[in-house]
Amino acid sequence: MPVETLKWIGERPGHVQMIEQTKLPETFEQLDVRDVPGMVDAIYRLAVRGAPAIGVAAGYGMLLGVQDKEGLDGPAMMALVQETSSTLAKARPTAVNLFWALDRMVARAKLDLAAGKDGDGMRDGLFEEAHAIFHEDQTTCEALGRYGAELIKDGGTYLTHCNAGALATANTGTALAPFYEANRQGKKIAVFADETRPLLQGARLTAWELMQGGIDVTVITDSMAGRVMFEGKIDAVFVGSDRIARNGDVCNKIGTYSVAVLAKEHGIPFYAVAPLSTFDRSITHGDQIPIEERPAIEITNGFGKPTAPEGVKVYNPAFDVTPAKYVTGIVTEVGVIEAPNQEKIDAAMKAAGIELL
Ligand code: MRU
Repeated sequence: MPVETLKWIGERPGHVQMIEQTKLPETFEQLDVRDVPGMVDAIYRLAVRGAPAIGVAAGYGMLLGVQDKEGLDGPAMMALVQETSSTLAKARPTAVNLFWALDRMVARAKLDLAAGKDGDGMRDGLFEEAHAIFHEDQTTCEALGRYGAELIKDGGTYLTHCNAGALATANTGTALAPFYEANRQGKKIAVFADETRPLLQGARLTAWELMQGGIDVTVITDSMAGRVMFEGKIDAVFVGSDRIARNGDVCNKIGTYSVAVLAKEHGIPFYAVAPLSTFDRSITHGDQIPIEERPAIEITNGFGKPTAPEGVKVYNPAFDVTPAKYVTGIVTEVGVIEAPNQEKIDAAMKAAGIELL
């Protein structure tokens, strides 16, 4: 694993330690998060970000909310779990992994309550569940890496957008996992990383972690993606996702849609790499996905220097949706869904034992 993005420290009481990603690449700092408001703040500020990492953070955030509550009866613990879940759910709206992890924590508490456990017993179950989410994310990344690496050739050059690597998960990432795995297998690869305006996750984070991992990486600005494709430099595009609708529409960092359209125009395969926890079973189309809008200052004064006139109107959607028709395949931990559509996605979910809503 190139970096450890977040982890639970200690037993009980414990806390979450995470890389303070807003400071990278200038400073490598750890942030200790000890309560629920602190976790909401860390997620909102993007100290921890990337869909799977947000899911892991949410599970651990629940533990921060319940760990010091001794001797509660079952219903009181259940009320606390529901309340903590609602608070954490407000941190960011788009990455479905946040809600997936919280639903899983609430479901575990309900199960234990129904089994007659008291508050302390339910708390034990929550600890198990949060650690399970963390560990499952680790094995999921390995599987994504294995399936994705089959699409990568020795000597190939690949484009990625935003950061879907170790910094976005509890292991080697989603879209970057195939690069790490291909590299491990001895394939010589090169990666172009879109800088990813306005918060530069590509330049600050992807470039940083791929360099740590010994992978050849070149940063370009977002508007250069078409040029490098036109020059014949890109063999395929690999991106992560924050939420995938049942028809295969892929929501990811703003700018992904443009990259997908450009890829299609140039006959370049476009792959989304995502765990099944990123598929939203409750929505059939990408236009139902809530798109986070972030503050204007990220565009007008993102890194401390004014880059637009004071008072100018700004529109700052943090994500966009790439319609399924642009997606060559979705790499999941159970295999690649080629030319995704609702039928194929539903079949993959069912095969993995996931109930459709
Ligand atoms: O706003 P961010 O940095 O959380 O956006 C992250 C992305 O868009 C990633 O590509 C996505 O979450 C997939 S992460 C494995």
